Amino acid sequence: MNGPDKPPCALIVMGVSGSGKSTIATALANRLRWTFEDGDRFHPASNVAKMSAGHPLTDEDRWPWLQAIADEIGRVCTAGGHVVIACSALKRAYRDVLVRNRKDVRFVFLDGSPALIAGRLAARKGHFMPPGLLDSQFKTLEPPQADEHPVIVSIDAPVETIVNNIVAKLRT
Ligand SMILES: Nc1ncnc2c1ncn2[C@@H]1O[C@H](COP(=O)(O)OP(=O)(O)OP(=O)(O)O)[C@@H](O)[C@H]1O
Ligand SMILES: [Mg+2]
Repeated sequence: MNGPDKPPCALIVMGVSGSGKSTIATALANRLRWTFEDGDRFHPASNVAKMSAGHPLTDEDRWPWLQAIADEIGRVCTAGGHVVIACSALKRAYRDVLVRNRKDVRFVFLDGSPALIAGRLAARKGHFMPPGLLDSQFKTLEPPQADEHPVIVSIDAPVETIVNNIVAKLRT
């Protein structure tokens, strides 16, 4: 699978809703001077319509979305670019579609307790969170396994510290 043997051209910042993907991926991209992309941008119009209507996505809905992100990674890396992508990637099967066995794509898993994340979500402005969403996110979450060579960081720290920790772990 993807391993630390090849310098990455894409980092996928993953975790449950409210774990800090948008915040950390943006700060990490700024630090590395890489491009930032929000994975949500790659949803087909049919998924956007479904989500706007308040209907949950099925895995069947997700495959073309994940393929579109994998396509973008392929484009960027082939062009010699570098990108940090925020994408929840909660299940192993989703991550396998994203990575396509590339050695130059790595996951950064934002690890935090439900209590910490619930507190951050409650304080977050301009976002409506359906009740029970965080619970269902944790039920769905399959934390990345050793064979995926993830960078795992605790989110119980200031943004700057988390970014420092990610950069340090990427070097190892
Ligand atoms: N290290 C941190 N310390 C304090 N607050 C944080 C930290 N990281 C993120 N936050 C805050 O927590 C909230 C959730 O972060 P963010 O929106 O980046 O999460 P997300 O994973 O992108 O969520 P979603 O999946 O819903 O898009 C935001 O209000 C953000 O400002
Ligand atoms: Mg986000």
